[in-house]
Amino acid sequence: MALAQRLLRTKPTERIVAEGGRGEGGELRRTMSLWQLTLFSVGATLGTGIFVILGQAVPKAGPAVVVSFVLAAFTALLSALSYAELAGTIPVSGSSYSYAYATLGELVAWVCGWCLMLEYAVSVAAVSVGWGEYLNSFLRSLAGFTLPDAITRSPGQDGGVVNVTAILIVLLATWLLLHGASESARANAVFVLIKIAVLLFFCAVAFTAFRSGNLAPLAPMGVAGITAAASQVFFSYIGFDAASTAGEEAKNPRRDLPLAIVFSLAIVTLVYVLVALAAVGAMPWTEFDPDSTEASLAYIADLAMGATWPGLIVSFGAVIAIASVVLTVMYGQTRILFAMSRDGLIPRVFQKVDPRRQVPVANTFIVALFISVLAGLVPLGQLAEATSIGTLFAFAIVNVGVLVLRYRSPEIPRSFRVPFFPVTPVLGAIFCLLVMAGLAGVTWLAFALWMLVGLACYFLYGYRHSRLNAEVG
Ligand code: ALA
Repeated sequence: MALAQRLLRTKPTERIVAEGGRGEGGELRRTMSLWQLTLFSVGATLGTGIFVILGQAVPKAGPAVVVSFVLAAFTALLSALSYAELAGTIPVSGSSYSYAYATLGELVAWVCGWCLMLEYAVSVAAVSVGWGEYLNSFLRSLAGFTLPDAITRSPGQDGGVVNVTAILIVLLATWLLLHGASESARANAVFVLIKIAVLLFFCAVAFTAFRSGNLAPLAPMGVAGITAAASQVFFSYIGFDAASTAGEEAKNPRRDLPLAIVFSLAIVTLVYVLVALAAVGAMPWTEFDPDSTEASLAYIADLAMGATWPGLIVSFGAVIAIASVVLTVMYGQTRILFAMSRDGLIPRVFQKVDPRRQVPVANTFIVALFISVLAGLVPLGQLAEATSIGTLFAFAIVNVGVLVLRYRSPEIPRSFRVPFFPVTPVLGAIFCLLVMAGLAGVTWLAFALWMLVGLACYFLYGYRHSRLNAEVG
């Protein structure tokens, strides 16, 4: 078979679905309800984006940062609808990787899986790097002491040696994940309820200091400022697709995955718009610090009440928020690798399921090790943008996947259909590319390098071990 034909071979949807759930040595367990899946996606989404990046984006857009959040939500929504359609049609753990395999062929699927590593593994590492700082700001407000910089920062950051706190949060998440998907989903539900409660508390406090004068001028940097901020805050929406990695552990995936994706995006958008409005209403936009890495919401809450206890509560919310992002996104990464391994594109160890716990134990350990090393030793503060570019690329592929599958296999059963087809997925892909265009040149460079490494891995390993290719010889 010619090289191009091999690279473009797609895996039939029925076959992907039929293989679902099975790994080497055991099967995954179907335990997750619609409610747990929705909170899983919310858990993966609501994190540093709202607690920290909101504050950094305000100087770009002014009070119109609220509009930036709506714009980013619209971009996310178009792709979320495409995710919902494909998750309902091909409900397996591989998420967009598997959708690409069914629609655009093995090479694109690999590229997508490689991008998902930016969205999942690398973003978890980036998010956990910052956890120590939130923990410190919480401890400072609570008891007036902080952990030493040597163990809360990465080498390269001021005073950092090994970011032990980042490793600690990854290990805690690993411990929960090894208990099983259902147990992790239950713990996550508690975390999510706490973080939403804390953000609503923030809104209540900040609205007491609301001054309509703070909203004028609304858009001091004009439309360009609003779109630049939208590209930056897009990071805060990443994760709504996490439920799509639970396709093989959901009780009723065809019905529940599309609903969970759409519900979670609706919940986070509502929370974000409220929080952003409360924040810019409570503090003049010129006072936001673009370089601050601390939870700016805690500062605003203290300012609004003229006391330190509101900030304490908000910092606690940030600590819990990040914990739930780490837990759910790590889960997603293990399940995507599980699907890739079943297809032979990465080593088989990733698809081994422990028969007693019904989780991929070795896979979880390897992911934890990789993320711990990255988070403990590499200063990843600037990595948010690199994460966004990979995610946007994967989202664009999902939008194209919806188009391809509708034209090529119109007959297969779909539990959810994108409204206004084909306008929605076409717009979805275009918006993803537009937001990508708004990201910095250095981010594009990092992305290109990441892709080169990915392609090298594919041709050295995946191409040769692909199960689909082995069958045709
Ligand atoms: N959306 C996630 C966050 O904001 C990645 O932390």
